[in-house]
Order: sequence, then structure tokens, then C-alpha cells
Amino acid sequence: MKKLAALFAITIFLCTSVSAQSVVASKHDLSTGGGITNKSTNETQVCIFCHTPHQKTLTAKPLWNKTLSAQATYGTYTSTSLNTTTVVDIGGGTGVSNLCMSCHDGTVAVNSLDNKSSLGPPAMGSATELDATGKISSTNDNNMGVNLSNDHPINFTYDAALATADGALKTPVSASYVDAAHAVPLYTGSLQCASCHNPHNNAQGTFLRVSNAGSALCITCHTK
Ligand code: HEC
Ligand code: HEC
Ligand code: HEC
Ligand code: HEC
Repeated sequence: MKKLAALFAITIFLCTSVSAQSVVASKHDLSTGGGITNKSTNETQVCIFCHTPHQKTLTAKPLWNKTLSAQATYGTYTSTSLNTTTVVDIGGGTGVSNLCMSCHDGTVAVNSLDNKSSLGPPAMGSATELDATGKISSTNDNNMGVNLSNDHPINFTYDAALATADGALKTPVSASYVDAAHAVPLYTGSLQCASCHNPHNNAQGTFLRVSNAGSALCITCHTK
């Protein structure tokens, strides 16, 4: 019985250590314990770079703490074969994809926060991923710039009508998820950066929701 209990405990331990993926120590952990070279030299909190329990001036959700970009237009992807007519430029917005662009358009320092800890603005290292002003460096692939017209479309309604119009898209199971396994979310029916990326989990690499080996992520939505 003791042996069985021990085996049970080991199994639980193995399961949780395999599945316990977290933002902590990932490339989105910018604290002193974080996963990039230019992590903070003083701030020990992880979530604070993106969220706060008490917003000061910001009202963006979920409890957003990172200064948003002032970029007014990003452009939108267009093509002759695109069926959706609902793509809206995210410029000047506070939606879920604007949260990503608050760091990834390269115009605002990653340590520009609404509600700082008692340490004040976190001090960041520079000259690897970040430049001397704390922005994602212009030579870094992760600096997407302010042009989204040559990127996969975002910020549009992905519903049954679009799946029918396109003819090669799966019909989302609800306005909250594309797939029955709930691996790929929609945001009130809308496709956003975070439909494909989970900012808290880098287990699949590139913070992807689903591994893209064999293009598995793509064929969660496209029936190609
Ligand atoms: C690099 C930025 C970043 C960091 C760091 C971060 N988050 Fe988030 N978080 C986001 C973004 C962007 C969203 C909205 C997209 C989404 O729903 O996944 C979000 C959504 C959430 C949500 C609401 C949606 C959900 O998944 O339940 C919670 C709760 C949350 N984060 C908690 C945390 C906690 C706790 C930490 C620290 C341990 C943390 N986050 C660290 C960026 C971050
Ligand atoms: C607080 C700033 C911040 C926010 C907000 C943020 N990121 Fe990041 N992100 C970073 C930094 C810094 C890196 C690491 C850059 C590097 O390693 O060169 C990074 C890396 C990444 C990477 C590359 C990971 C890898 O393994 O190479 C992806 C993909 C990514 N972020 C997507 C997102 C998405 C999608 C969102 C919104 C849901 C988001 N990020 C929100 C700062 C941020
Ligand atoms: C339709 C799915 C999808 C959407 C939507 C999406 N991405 Fe990605 N993204 C990917 C995939 C897949 C990769 C990995 C590409 C590779 O490895 O070549 C990636 C790579 C990245 C990278 C790493 C650098 C690079 O260019 O390869 C960053 C940063 C990133 N995405 C951020 C974002 C942000 C911010 C948004 C929203 C503006 C976004 N992504 C929207 C699928 C998506
Ligand atoms: C979350 C669902 C989802 C994922 C994941 C996804 N896509 Fe898409 N993609 C869409 C939707 C919806 C459209 C808009 C289709 C339309 O309106 O015709 C689209 C548009 C496109 C287009 C433009 C089509 C055109 O007519 O110009 C291409 C190409 C594309 N996706 C390729 C990919 C690739 C490659 C991947 C994987 C890296 C991917 N997508 C991942 C949902 C998704």
C-alpha cells in the first residue's frame, strides 16, 4: 500500500512538472529571475510588467499595467481572396492585440508601467533584446514595427458565416473558442494575436497555443 501511495505521488509529481508551464522564467518574465538577457536588475515581480491588482490611470483589461502604444494606425492585411469584411485597424485601441503591441511595436519601453512597485520603474539591462531606452530593439525579430498589413489578419469576426463564405475554414464551436478542445480562443468572436499565442506559456515555443509542427496550429482553423 505504501509502495502504491509512493508510486501515485511520483506519478502526480511527474504529471504536474510536465504540465506546469508558466510565464515564470519564460521570455515574458522580465523580472530579475526572467528568461531574457536584458531582464530587470531590480524588479522581482513577474506579472507587474503586464498586470496590476490596482490600475492608476489605465483602464485596459485584464487589469493591464503596461503603457499602451500611441500608434494611431497599423494598417490591415488585404487580398483579393480574403472573405472577411470586418477587419478593423487596432491603432489607438485598447483591445487584446493592443496589449501585445504595447511592447512588440517597439515604440514604448517594456518597463513603462502604470502602477509601479515600491522600487519605482524597473531598471532594465540593454543592448541584447532591448535597446538603451528599454524598447524591444529595432534589429530584434520580435520588434514587429508599426505595420500589420503584411501579417496574418487580426481583429475581425471569425464565425460560421465567414467559414461558409471562405469554404475552407472550420466553424468555430462558439464565440469563445474555435475548437472543441478549447485550445484556440476567440475574443467575443474575434480573432486576435492571443488566439494563436498564449502570452503565459512558451512550452510550444514562440508562445504558441498549439504546436505548429506539421502546421497543426494552422489546420485548427484552416481545412487546407
Ligand atoms: C508579457 C505580458 C504578460 C505577463 C508577464 C503576464 N500576463 Fe497575464 N495576460 C497577458 C495578456 C496579453 C493577456 C490577455 C490575453 C489572454 O487572455 O491570454 C493576459 C491575460 C491574463 C488573465 C486573464 C485571461 C486568462 O487567461 O485567465 C489573467 C488572469 C492573467 N493574465 C494573469 C497573469 C498572472 C497571474 C501573471 C503573472 C504570474 C501574468 N498574467 C503575467 C499578458 C501577460
Ligand atoms: C511587457 C512587454 C510585452 C508584452 C505586453 C508582450 N510581450 Fe511578447 N515579448 C516581450 C519580450 C521582451 C520578448 C523577448 C524578446 C527576445 O527574446 O528577443 C517577447 C517575446 C515574444 C515572442 C517570442 C518568443 C520566443 O520564444 O522567441 C512572442 C511570440 C511574443 N512575445 C508574443 C507576444 C504576444 C502575442 C503578446 C500579446 C498576447 C505579447 N507577446 C505581449 C515583451 C512583451
Ligand atoms: C494565425 C496565427 C497567428 C496570429 C493571429 C499571430 N501570430 Fe505571431 N506567430 C504565429 C506563428 C505560427 C509564429 C511562428 C513563426 C515562425 O516560427 O516562423 C509567430 C511568431 C511571432 C513572433 C516571433 C517573431 C516572428 O516574427 O517570427 C512574434 C513576436 C509574434 N508572433 C507576435 C504576434 C503578435 C503581436 C500578433 C498580433 C499582432 C501575432 N503574433 C498574431 C502565429 C500567429
Ligand atoms: C485561429 C484561427 C486561425 C489560425 C490558427 C490560422 N488562421 Fe489563417 N486565417 C484565419 C481566418 C479566419 C482567416 C480569414 C479568411 C478569409 O477571410 O478569407 C485567415 C486568413 C489567412 C490567410 C489569408 C487568406 C487570403 O485570402 O488572403 C492565409 C494565407 C492564412 N490565413 C494562413 C494561415 C497559416 C499559414 C496559418 C498557420 C501559421 C494560419 N493561417 C493560422 C484563421 C486562422
